Amino acid sequence: MKITIIGAGYVGLVTAVGFADLGNEVICVDKIPFKLSKLSKGISPIYEPGLTELLQKQIKKGKIHFTDKIEEGVNFSDIIFLCVGTPNGDTGKADLSQVEEASIDIAHNMNSYKFIIEKSTVPVNTHQWVETVIKRYLKKDIKFDVASNPEFLKEGSALDDFMNPDRIVVGVESEKAKDMFKELYKPFVKKGIPLIVTTPAAAELIKHASNSFLAMKISYINMVSELCEKVGADVNMVAEGMGYDKRIGRAFLQAGIGYGGSCFPKDVKAFIKIAEEHGVDFSLIEEVEKINLKRRTNFMKRIKNVFRIIKDKNIAVWGLSFKPNTDDIREAPSIDIIRELEKSKANLKLYDPQAEEGFKHIFPEKQSLKYFDNKYEALKDTDTLLILTDWDEFKGADLDRVKENMRLPIIIDGRNIYQLKDMKKKGFEYYSIGRENFDPKGMWK
Ligand code: UGA
Repeated sequence: MKITIIGAGYVGLVTAVGFADLGNEVICVDKIPFKLSKLSKGISPIYEPGLTELLQKQIKKGKIHFTDKIEEGVNFSDIIFLCVGTPNGDTGKADLSQVEEASIDIAHNMNSYKFIIEKSTVPVNTHQWVETVIKRYLKKDIKFDVASNPEFLKEGSALDDFMNPDRIVVGVESEKAKDMFKELYKPFVKKGIPLIVTTPAAAELIKHASNSFLAMKISYINMVSELCEKVGADVNMVAEGMGYDKRIGRAFLQAGIGYGGSCFPKDVKAFIKIAEEHGVDFSLIEEVEKINLKRRTNFMKRIKNVFRIIKDKNIAVWGLSFKPNTDDIREAPSIDIIRELEKSKANLKLYDPQAEEGFKHIFPEKQSLKYFDNKYEALKDTDTLLILTDWDEFKGADLDRVKENMRLPIIIDGRNIYQLKDMKKKGFEYYSIGRENFDPKGMWK
């Protein structure tokens, strides 16, 4: 099939490459010139495992093209995916100006039937508004359908999530739209992936409700971790015990310094606003957000508790991205924590396998803040190591080498990546989340 994707961001690009890999012909429209020039050369503007390789393969096969001309995109296919950004506006409400712009562009260039699919995360009933905008700007009497098809892929495993989703959700209003989705998602249904056909409003809600629910699970276990610290229980064990219950599940019960990224913070905020606008008291979700932000201040308190005086301490930080396997630092907890450490006049030595470049835009290198290409080098003469992202390469680090390189063997782990018994054996002073804190000299009370 021929497919048009508007917006070559995370979701748009992965969707484009994924559909091309399934044998479709795809055109991807974006307005940002530097992005397009990179993409046309087969260079992905984002770090996502496997994406560059698959992109290059599909370009070679002629299955994917990039353009800045919306007219070309609209003419190319009857199926148009809207994958533009929907950031929070000033109040936290989703800013739909990119959705409007794309809808007007489609209307201006429409010359035959079009099937317009919202893939961007949008507030419930946006499909009605998209329909209104297109009708308003359409000059001829041309039929079109607007449908919703939210995406559930995660950064760091985006291609695999796209190809093997738990479910595909489509919200349609016409039989024609339903049939087009069935055709489009045939290869997935063949693999046994459930295709859930519902109304556009329900599909839009499923996305916001799912992200907010997952964020709630994280905040829930983080509160449990606070309780664990008070009573001397281990949050990992509590999560494991809870997770065996199939109704609860172990996923997204990893306690730590909280969620970040371009989705949960944005979508939780937007969901709060949606409930507010419809007169629904959904204070439960407001708490989720509050708890999450408090994780960062609590982590800072922990550092201050351990050192009292932060000024002039040499502090190594492993992990800057909001989660592993991505270079994305949007809303990363590391940003707030490093800002606070800077205010307290610490000397910082930062290391991340992928996120250094983006981080340098916010925190340029200077005497008191240095970036390192090697995680062990970053540890030289440090008084403590903070772990802010759970990259696999940190989990597998040589702990003897870590200890040798540091001035003081103190680790404050915001992601619970090490086993307590290993840390005890190696003689570290080790602080983590919702677990026993200990130091070999027995100073910690
Ligand atoms: C999230 C959802 O998981 C996807 O289903 C959704 O499609 C996507 O948002 C989106 O709306 O586009 P993503 O933000 O890429 O995906 O990554 P997650 O794996 O969900 O992690 C989000 C944050 O939660 C990270 O900061 C991660 O460290 C944190 N997290 C995750 C925890 O603190 N604990 C956990 O147990 C799980």
